[in-house]
Amino acid sequence: MLFPDYRPRRMRATPTLRRMIRETLLSRNDLIQPMFAIPGNKIKKPIESMPGHFQMSGDYIVEMAKQAKEAGIPAIILFGIPDKKDPLATRAYADDGIVQKTVAKIKDAVSDLTVITDVCLCGYTDHGHCGVVDNGIIDNDASLDLLAKVALSHAKAGADMVAPSDMMDGRVAEIRQTLDEDGYDHIPVMSYAVKYASAFYGPFRQAADSSPQFGDRKTYQMDPANAMEAIREATMDIEEGADIIMVKPALAYLDIILRLKQEIDLPIAAYNVSGEYSIMKAGEMMGWVDATALILETLTAIKRAGADMILTYSAIDVARALEAS
Ligand code: PBG
Repeated sequence: MLFPDYRPRRMRATPTLRRMIRETLLSRNDLIQPMFAIPGNKIKKPIESMPGHFQMSGDYIVEMAKQAKEAGIPAIILFGIPDKKDPLATRAYADDGIVQKTVAKIKDAVSDLTVITDVCLCGYTDHGHCGVVDNGIIDNDASLDLLAKVALSHAKAGADMVAPSDMMDGRVAEIRQTLDEDGYDHIPVMSYAVKYASAFYGPFRQAADSSPQFGDRKTYQMDPANAMEAIREATMDIEEGADIIMVKPALAYLDIILRLKQEIDLPIAAYNVSGEYSIMKAGEMMGWVDATALILETLTAIKRAGADMILTYSAIDVARALEAS
């Protein structure tokens, strides 16, 4: 009896055999932990839409950065929630702004941890858009100078890498040029190059208090229906000087990660965004799913698709679990 010719189950029979043929290995080195910084002292406010996450003052952020390092994670990404907002996001590039002060604190207290900063205006503008608003229109070119100022102020404060998430055309070139002119040519740019207009950002907008106060982000973030455009966006950002190309969100866009992996020769980051995190946590709270297992499966799938690094709200937890396994 020759049928079946081959029996794949033979190699699945024991944990050790499964370990021997495992093709994708998630590592602590793959993970980047996002954090939300607010002004003040000894403040740790739960983010209702993201169970297990907090808006934290600098002291708590430093604590969490230490935990990230101890868990073996190479990098964190910092988002700031400013004390006040205005139409031109002036608190986004202030020397004493929330990100600038927090970065300095982390760099003082924790060595050998790459501190990335999110460069955007939406959390700092009163209208909640990622660029300058002129008569209800998001003015691309008027936003570039501001974004470059934000990136430069982060670098001056000690950021090791900047990550523009605004999706204005031409911002990577503008940021690269500004950093280079001011002596920060060693600071890499992780570009949110392929960022879709996604409902998966919902919980984050509560965490970062960054919802648009009118309209939506569809004139600057990408249409989820488009894949060719992802190649175009990534190619442009590479030409403009990006060092890492990000795809965001991750889980519903694994095909995009795979295509970029095949077509570009820069490291690819994937952002396992707030909605992806929160629906799994919510499902677990309902008693319907095991969030820890879901998260491990998801991150492995994102890596299998081609991501070289993953921004995830579960980074520290997963790093600890990987270490223990
Ligand atoms: C800011 C920004 C957003 C996220 C990262 N940077 C929100 C948005 O574009 O509305 C989303 C992150 C997440 O959902 O986890 N532009």
